[in-house]
Amino acid sequence: AAAKGGYKHFMLKEIMEQPRVITDCLTGRVTEEPDGSLSVHLQELDGIPVPSRLHIVACGTSYNAGLWGQQLLENVGGIPTDLDIASEFRYRDPIILPGEAVMVISQSGETADTLAALRLAKEKGAKVIGLCNVVGSSIAREADVVLYTQAGPEISVASTKAMCSQMVLIALMALYYGQRRSPAVFDRNLLVALRELPEKLAAALPAMQKRAEQLALRFASSRSFFYLGRGQYNALALEGALKLKELSYIHAEGYAAGEMKHGPIALIDPQFPTFALAMDDDVFFPKVKSNIQEVLARQGRVIALVQEKGRSLSSLGVEDIWRLPDSYPVISCFFALSALQLFSYCMADVLGKDVDQPRNLAKSVTVE
Ligand code: G6P
Repeated sequence: AAAKGGYKHFMLKEIMEQPRVITDCLTGRVTEEPDGSLSVHLQELDGIPVPSRLHIVACGTSYNAGLWGQQLLENVGGIPTDLDIASEFRYRDPIILPGEAVMVISQSGETADTLAALRLAKEKGAKVIGLCNVVGSSIAREADVVLYTQAGPEISVASTKAMCSQMVLIALMALYYGQRRSPAVFDRNLLVALRELPEKLAAALPAMQKRAEQLALRFASSRSFFYLGRGQYNALALEGALKLKELSYIHAEGYAAGEMKHGPIALIDPQFPTFALAMDDDVFFPKVKSNIQEVLARQGRVIALVQEKGRSLSSLGVEDIWRLPDSYPVISCFFALSALQLFSYCMADVLGKDVDQPRNLAKSVTVE
């Protein structure tokens, strides 16, 4: 009980620790000059050339973190980036050209498929970057270069703060590569927002927990859920669905919102609610809004995750709108991640499930 720091479960403690985890992940990696200029330091990467392409390989929640980071590494870092599930990568004889690198992401550093993917990448002559939480783990030892996420021990089987730290580190990598390729294109606003995030997230979490509790009580009898998002919110939709099934054993589908019309729309009915990530964004908001209209037209219930000053959805008749603090676009993902984690946590708790040790799951999957 003492180790839970007064929280009912390790998972809740670990969700609530995320502001500190973000601070710890940034520590020693960002420098501010007296003139206010900022720069990112990832000395571990200084010794290897900027990859012409990065292949990200991971499993489970770590894969979702990689999917979230893919667009950032391309748009902010300028690095063409592919993504693979480790159990697929290791058997598909991937082509890795000279100058390309492989980045494996693993909280434990012991996942069998991810470790096999790392060994395959090395056999093929690629430089391997390991993004790990556990110091001295197999992946940390075998990778050419290790970046530690510095999230501290994660006890709950379902990963929460580790994903948060992976996202921070990938954002730093994207900034680092952007800066290394051309200091002129460095996205200073993103780094400023990242540094302000711990304080803002810490202030927001208690109200978010209350809102998650209310929604869990309202939706506790649902047996299926649909999660929709676009762009980086697609990765979060997958993670939201994964967390819900891991913890509460409720069937959940995470989908890129644009794919809804290609099949899953057939599932929508009053018993199949949708969790829509409708964060305010010029490109994607109108599109997710039209997905919500499609769901409502089929009598589906909707929980819409929006930003405080976000454009209104109430005219559509969405009953359950969940407002999160406004923030810089990429940074709003961290609020959405915490909201999704808290919702799954509260659902599992309301349903009386074993939150920290869900059935059939292991913290570290060291067999194939
Ligand atoms: C297991 C855990 C997940 C985790 C996955 C990958 O399935 O239950 O929470 O995301 O392994 O683990 P890793 O340690 O490689 O990130």
